[in-house]
Amino acid sequence: MKVLVIGSGGREHALVWKLSQSKQVKRIYAAPGNPGIARLAELVDISAEAVPELARFASGKGIDLTVVGPEAPMAAGIADAFEKEGLKILGPSQKAAQLEYSKVFAKNFMHKYHIPTASYETFVDCEPALQFLKSVSFPLVIKASGLAAGKGAVIVNYREEAQTVLKQMMVEKALGKSGEEVVIEEYLDGEEISLMAFCDGKSIVPMVLSQDHKKVFSGDEGPNTGGMGTYAPVDFVSDKEIERMQEKILQPTLDGLLQEGIEYKGIIYAGLMLTSAGPKVLEYNCRFGDPEAQSVLPLLETDLVEVCEAMIEGRLSRLEIEWNKSYATCVVLASAGYPGPYEKGKEIHGLEEVSENEGMIFHAGTKLVNGILVTAGGRVLGITALGETLDKSIEKAYRLVDRIHFEGMQYRNDIGRKGVLRTNA
Ligand code: AMP
Ligand code: GLY
Repeated sequence: MKVLVIGSGGREHALVWKLSQSKQVKRIYAAPGNPGIARLAELVDISAEAVPELARFASGKGIDLTVVGPEAPMAAGIADAFEKEGLKILGPSQKAAQLEYSKVFAKNFMHKYHIPTASYETFVDCEPALQFLKSVSFPLVIKASGLAAGKGAVIVNYREEAQTVLKQMMVEKALGKSGEEVVIEEYLDGEEISLMAFCDGKSIVPMVLSQDHKKVFSGDEGPNTGGMGTYAPVDFVSDKEIERMQEKILQPTLDGLLQEGIEYKGIIYAGLMLTSAGPKVLEYNCRFGDPEAQSVLPLLETDLVEVCEAMIEGRLSRLEIEWNKSYATCVVLASAGYPGPYEKGKEIHGLEEVSENEGMIFHAGTKLVNGILVTAGGRVLGITALGETLDKSIEKAYRLVDRIHFEGMQYRNDIGRKGVLRTNA
């Protein structure tokens, strides 16, 4: 079969890598892809958000399955457009993707279906939002309702700071239309984990739990990023707690979607805060996390094509999904300055002759210029290694990191450490 993967980051490289292992897959295309993906797939020069062009390409090439990586195409209605053309695609409809692209929708949905989340208020005008600040205690979290590439949630510690953020979002429109409506919510304290699940509209099956490291610097210092590294599974969360998450979060999410008349087919990712009052949903995403996908997909034993088709065809409950018993750690190598402005075009050294036994190198912001691989984004590479224990996978991943270099390369040196410490505690 012919498969098309949409997107160009580390998550999409991991998807292509996993799909390439399927015996059913004869050919993979990636739009637009990156130089790492190009080793496994044919790159197609169409942007991930150009929905009509992508549909034309898929029809013309006779693509049997399309897998969408990022949220923007889902929000633009790619699944609806492909389905209209009779093309098989993994990804929720535009209506279903609201869970991610409208935080107001997601919060109201959680409230309606009693899914544990932070208490909140929503605002379309700045003045009432500023008034509301007079009656609350801090810290608080202010969130732009729309998509904001990881820049939409701000933790504020006092009223003046909150006023500034609200004015930037709602009056100055620093995030464009995405910040016209905001959610102000209770600050939740605890450990953050990523609960991703496969969903076929009728059943919802959790993947192994993973943990991202959002802050740019080791020790959880500095500003939030798209994610600086992940590991999986998360052993300090017991099977019993995972069952509770299924019962209190995933199943009610699916039931709520059905009540709303939404048939959700694809990945649902709930970002959770493990609070003293139990796990609470911080946000939903309608896709794999990145870099979560780079540690979770390498642990998936079942053929990913089979899993995708089971989701699309509504027969997930009849599929046994198997996971490797190892641990996976993914360390992100980023450009100096990320998540702020960063330099590009730095030559990347040390990627030669890495065997899969040593680990996987997933490309994100890379580019070939005159045959030389250079940096082209904030997050440049994801280095993933598997080990029998979490400790061993961490050690292996960093051994590989030590061989790679580009000017200004920054990474956290503590990915996975939390997992080891908390599990042994
Ligand atoms: P979101 O875009 O909603 O995922 O928020 C981005 C990040 O902000 C999350 O991954 C958390 O680290 C943090 N965050 C979001 N909401 C809250 C909250 N209510 N309390 C504490 N931290 C939060
Ligand atoms: N790593 C967080 C995300 O993909 O949203």
